[in-house]
Order: sequence, then C-alpha cells, then structure tokens
Amino acid sequence: MATEEHQRLANIVKNCHDSLRQLTKLYGAERAWQEHTGPHNAEKLAEYADAMQQLAGIWETNASKTELHARSRIKWAIDYITKYFYIEGIYLQKRLREQRLLASYNELADAECAYMEAPPDKLRVLDVGSCFNPFGNTPHLEVTALDLCPAPGALVLQADFLTVDVDGMLTEPEIRDQSVKRLPAGYYHCVIFSLLLEYMPSADQRLLCCQKAYELLRPEGILVIITPDSQHVGKNASIMKNWRFALAKLGLLRIRFEKLPHITCMVFRRAICQELSQHWASVHREEGICETIRIPQDEH
Ligand SMILES: C[S@@+](CC[C@H](N)C(=O)[O-])C[C@H]1O[C@@H](n2cnc3c(N)ncnc32)[C@H](O)[C@@H]1O
Repeated sequence: MATEEHQRLANIVKNCHDSLRQLTKLYGAERAWQEHTGPHNAEKLAEYADAMQQLAGIWETNASKTELHARSRIKWAIDYITKYFYIEGIYLQKRLREQRLLASYNELADAECAYMEAPPDKLRVLDVGSCFNPFGNTPHLEVTALDLCPAPGALVLQADFLTVDVDGMLTEPEIRDQSVKRLPAGYYHCVIFSLLLEYMPSADQRLLCCQKAYELLRPEGILVIITPDSQHVGKNASIMKNWRFALAKLGLLRIRFEKLPHITCMVFRRAICQELSQHWASVHREEGICETIRIPQDEH
C-alpha cells in the first residue's frame, strides 16, 4: 500500500506528464516541448527530478524487500548487460546467428559487416533521462548520464537528447559547464532508456531518440529500453510489435523481451550490418504493422 509521501511524490511525477500532454493537445508536440523545457518551467522540472529520485529510492527498497532480484529495473539492466558482454558472451552467440542469417540471404551476399572488438574492462554506457544516475556506481560501467533536468546532487549532465548533435568526428563526449554539447557516433557499448520514451509526447520524438541511439552505438552494442506497463503481456502486444519493426528498420534487432509486474524490459542490438536488420523487417512486415513508437497514452 502506498504511503502518503509515496502518493505525493507519484502525483508530482504524474502531474508533470499530464501537463506536457495537455500542452501537446493545445499546441502540438514541438511547441509543447519548447514550452515544457523552457526557462519558465525550470522550477517544475526541478521538483519532478527531486520527486523522481525519491520515488525511485522507494521502489528499489520495495524491490529488495520482495527478494525478487528482477523486479528492480536497474538490477535487471545491469544483469543483462553483464551477461551480454561478459558472463554468457551473448554478443558472440548473436553474432553467429546473424552470420548464419546473412549467409542464407543471397541478396545480401555483398553486404559489409562491422564487429565489436572484445569488450573492455569498463563498458561505455550512455544513460539517457538518467535523473539521478542509477547506474553510476556499477564497477564495470563507465557511465555518461544525462538529463533535461538532473536531480539535485546527482552526477548527471544536463542535455536535451532530442537536440544534442551526434558527431562522427568526435572521440569523446563534448561537455561544457556540466552540459553535454555533442556526443560521438559509434562510441557506446550500451545506451539505456529507462522510463524515458513515454516522457516524450510524440511518436516522432521517440523514434528520433532510437535513431540517435543507433548512431551512438558501436557495432553489436545494445540499446536497453525499460517501459512502464502494468497490463498483462498481451494487452500491448501490437504496440510492441511496431516498436520491434521500427527499430529493426533502423538497424536494431530485438534480442530480449521480458515482462515484469509493472514494466517491460527489452534489449535491441546493433546488428553486424544494417541491411540484415532491415531485411528482417521486410520479411516480418505484416498487415497493419507501422514504423512507429506509439505508446498506450497516445490513444487517450
Ligand atoms: C521517468 S524519469 C526516469 C528516470 C530514470 N531513468 C529511472 O529509470 O528512474 C524520465 C527522465 O527522463 C528525462 N528526459 C525526458 N526526455 C528527455 C530528453 N529529451 N533528454 C534528456 N532527458 C530527458 C526526464 O527529465 C526525467 O528525468
């Protein structure tokens, strides 16, 4: 049962999301976003960041009480990243699978492939919409944490991911005055969107985030997406199919899907060649499928 304080924090978060959706109805997503992220709303964003940090602390405590390791989205993501790159070497299994697929598609015989070198001791991770840097203390992760409005005291850089440039000439993130100015293409082993995409009011903005994640990832790097979902697994199945299709068109193949009690956790891998992933999408195109990152809230 939620305590009064828990409810108060949840209301701050919910009201912020509701007000952005209201603005979007009035002005469209682009102008709504400008208003939302503009200076006159700074106080509200700071209040949201503080509430989100406290709320996340309560969720983590509750998750550890249930002793169900996988209920924590943070632990789920760290576990999968560790298995993928180190413990189970999943990236090598997926590479073999993609090589087999590629060999079976005659039309892709000349496609060029790119591979990741062996994973380093510290993986480069970009945590977008980090808020309070929940992955920052993980020993084998070197985290760039960014947010529209970082939580107070958190080691998080300020940036709007929608407007940050991705640059193929950079060798490391360009940071000034605690803000991210530009990010290097093909640099990160992992990009994390934990409860990020549904914050944004339009499907196009969410797709743009995924496109940027693709550009930022090294070959065979992964995009971890955690999205809130308290429904049973079938309820949003068609939405999830569209996400899978849209991301495959970008070059990101889904390699993990797990429904937990209040969230869905997914992992998409930057395929060894983009044409392979796009070919997968064309083979799996079915009636009604769309290249879009819609969410259930878009319907209301
Ligand atoms: C629901 S919170 C999730 C916080 C954290 N990732 C977690 O899992 O607890 C969503 C966060 O995404 C941030 N955010 C939303 N859109 C963003 C954007 N375009 N660029 C950077 N941060 C963004 C918000 O400021 C907010 O802190």
